[in-house]
Amino acid sequence: MENKEINPETLKKLQLKIMQDVSASAIIPLMRIGDQLGIFKKLSKIGEVSSNELAKATTLDERYLREWLYAVSAAGFVTYNVETQKFLLTPEQIAVFADDDGPASMMGAYDMLTGAIHNEDQVKEAFKTGEGVDYKDSCPICFQGTARFFKPSYEKNLVTSWLPKIENLEERMNKGASFADIGCGYGLSTMIIAQTFPNAKVCGYDIHEPSIKEAEKLAKEAGLDKRIKYTTADAKSYHGKHDYIAFFDCLHDMGDPVGAAKYAYNQLEDDGSVILIEPTANDKPQDNFHLFGQMYYSFSTIGCIPTSKSQEVGLALGAQAGPSKLIDVLNQAGFKNCKVVKKNASNMVIEARKN
Ligand SMILES: C[S@@+](CC[C@H](N)C(=O)[O-])C[C@H]1O[C@@H](n2cnc3c(N)ncnc32)[C@H](O)[C@@H]1O
Repeated sequence: MENKEINPETLKKLQLKIMQDVSASAIIPLMRIGDQLGIFKKLSKIGEVSSNELAKATTLDERYLREWLYAVSAAGFVTYNVETQKFLLTPEQIAVFADDDGPASMMGAYDMLTGAIHNEDQVKEAFKTGEGVDYKDSCPICFQGTARFFKPSYEKNLVTSWLPKIENLEERMNKGASFADIGCGYGLSTMIIAQTFPNAKVCGYDIHEPSIKEAEKLAKEAGLDKRIKYTTADAKSYHGKHDYIAFFDCLHDMGDPVGAAKYAYNQLEDDGSVILIEPTANDKPQDNFHLFGQMYYSFSTIGCIPTSKSQEVGLALGAQAGPSKLIDVLNQAGFKNCKVVKKNASNMVIEARKN
């Protein structure tokens, strides 16, 4: 590691990687503009258009729109018809950029990225003091971004691929089991569970009151307000016994995950399960040094570590803790039977049982 000579090939590779990342990052504000001003949605409805036609249809300024269209076309996010010199969205581009409720939607990622940039100053200070940043003090775009970013994954995987790995869950939920979604945020996972299992008793808890208020609003809009009981509570203070206690992408955000898991142990029926959904990770950091790892470690530095450090204990597991550390947390809480029951590129599911 002492070699001080610059290897031109290595340097070129590093610079190319940075240029790719710069290019991907430069488009973040444009994606948010396209989303918030409804440009993607308008494009999805009217089909192939010139910038002038799009300006008329959206009542937005043509010159801004034209530059925006060139940038997103360069990214491959809008398609340019060279012959007609007009712009359109393919079905795949519509699915990713213009269909918020579809399973392929990815626009929430740009909210998350924008929120992360806004959090820079407070996290920079926390680097110096070692203190945390309370989740409630994060840029509010992060709250909506988290919900939107995770929603398609829950819609696609939760009831078809992840929960079926929990033995007997479907049968028990159909017979009226009680399910608690801890750290539920805007409650999108909670709503999917309530919709799928109409006989189950479904509760959502989160320490962040504005998220719980939003969850209540969304449940009402979906006609699920009588089915789900939301409560502002931290993971060590909710009441009642449950057959299933879930932590969907939130245990690592908690200051005291061992305490939260112990509390869950006490609130869990003896034959119940704790269900963890966490970002997929390997135990050794070097095995996470890839595209997904870059994203998760970055969000973790700006969001998960500061949130955890702002709470009691401040264990700061991080979003790439890996299965061994997570299972160790569950074992410390008393769970004897813990295993990874499902894993894909982005998420893993861990089930913990008392025996
Ligand atoms: C990354 S978000 C995930 C939200 C939601 N589960 C989802 O998947 O969209 C983490 C959530 O954990 C909540 N949280 C953090 N610490 C908590 C604690 N100690 N008790 C309860 N909720 C907590 C936050 O308020 C936030 O809503």
